[in-house]
Amino acid sequence: MNQGIYRIAVDGPSGAGKSTIAKAIAKELNIEYIDTGAMYRAIGYKVAKHVGSDGEELERFLGSDDLVEFLKDTDIDFVKGHIFLDGEDVESSIRTPEMSMMASKCSAIPAVREKLVDIQRNMGTRKSVIMDGRDIGTNVLKDAEYKIYLTASPEERANRRFKELQEKGDPQPYEEVLRDIKQRDHNDMTRKLNPLRKADDAVEVDSTGMGKEEVIQTILKMINR
Ligand code: DC
Repeated sequence: MNQGIYRIAVDGPSGAGKSTIAKAIAKELNIEYIDTGAMYRAIGYKVAKHVGSDGEELERFLGSDDLVEFLKDTDIDFVKGHIFLDGEDVESSIRTPEMSMMASKCSAIPAVREKLVDIQRNMGTRKSVIMDGRDIGTNVLKDAEYKIYLTASPEERANRRFKELQEKGDPQPYEEVLRDIKQRDHNDMTRKLNPLRKADDAVEVDSTGMGKEEVIQTILKMINR
């Protein structure tokens, strides 16, 4: 890429710590952080408000042409690290287990991916960015200068999420958290369209048993900026 602009793609399964790590690296390198998962969550949030978060009506809507019109009418933006949906700050509303599941469902729909990938590619041409998600290195920013595949065992990821939910005052049984993580791994890795997988030219970082700072330093060393 020209004019000193560079892109860092970070992919990996749910709960691997992508957003925490990417945010810290963005700060360190003074570049923009783009959380693509938040964009799928925002769509999930809007869809859930419209037709509910499960059942026949949701299935019908996701497979219909109404969705295309609905998406045309949807505006997503980031302002100071918060995601805005149609002008409303939805940063905290989208961080719930229900919205995780909604995001996962919506992310399998071609019209949703098309819309969001378009926005994401645009964001990646204007300035240096670190973007995290599932298909950044394999699809959205295929020619990113740096690609990282950040992973950890399902048990470790469930444990981290379990603690996070507890701290937020929204506790969930560990077994449920682990089941959700495995379900989302399955959804993300087996969907037809741009499933989660490590790009051939990505460097894998397995953070099982590693502290946050150690992961950040490992990645910064790789990027060497
Ligand atoms: O990273 P996250 O948990 O906030 O992502 C929410 C869901 O969105 C996740 O189940 C997979 C999907 N997603 C995707 O399909 N592609 C991306 N680039 C980012 C997220």
